[in-house]
Amino acid sequence: MTQSRVTVIVDSRYGSTLALARAIADGVVSQGAEVRLCRVSIVEPEFSVDVERPDFVAAQKEYRELPRATAADLEWAQGIIWGSPTRYGLMSTPLRAFIDEVAPLWRQGALIGKVGAAFTSSGGMHSGNEVTLLTLLLPFLQHGMVLAGVPHSVPELVHTDKGGSPYGATTVTGFDGTRGVDENERAIARALGARVARLAGWVKPEPASVELAAYSV
Ligand SMILES: Cc1cc2nc3c(=O)[nH]c(=O)nc-3n(C[C@H](O)[C@H](O)[C@H](O)COP(=O)(O)O)c2cc1C
Repeated sequence: MTQSRVTVIVDSRYGSTLALARAIADGVVSQGAEVRLCRVSIVEPEFSVDVERPDFVAAQKEYRELPRATAADLEWAQGIIWGSPTRYGLMSTPLRAFIDEVAPLWRQGALIGKVGAAFTSSGGMHSGNEVTLLTLLLPFLQHGMVLAGVPHSVPELVHTDKGGSPYGATTVTGFDGTRGVDENERAIARALGARVARLAGWVKPEPASVELAAYSV
């Protein structure tokens, strides 16, 4: 059991990335750690999504009920796990906007030494899923954080025939989204949450001013 605190930040439109986020949060709690599950803003134009689809409407209702993430949620946690749908082989604009919004934390060096991990959902198996996952990890390195993935000792990672990656948790929902999130993908997501919770309990954050470093010769 660990006393660590983990913040999970998610963007999701049809609910599959949110399902991964919930499984990750369950994994965090399974270790006795505290979790905050938060969303980001909804900034995209409405025409880009299926606003009439029942699964979309239900997922958006659930999504909007989550608290909106703030910089304070990142400062509170020793572990941060963020994820979004894959959009054109990249993270979504709302999550990217949130990462830009918390830039003052970078200047303060506030996240140095914390543990970071990522997750994503994509329609296709080979259309940007892992690229998105890897690029979701890069801002953590810019913040001076240490990265966590999923080891192959997690049996579902060896047996999955859909999502799940050593680089983080993923799901592959299919071209029309009907494949959903399967049990292997959920188990891998839970394992990621549990691992970050444990690692975050061991690693000591080392906040240090980037500003001072810039002006010291
Ligand atoms: C604007 C847009 C761009 C997308 N780009 C990709 C893509 O590059 N690769 C892919 O596999 N799926 C792509 N998708 C599909 C989503 O990644 C997929 O539906 C995902 O499961 C949605 O996650 P959600 O259920 O959390 O909203 C795109 C969807 C939209 C709406």
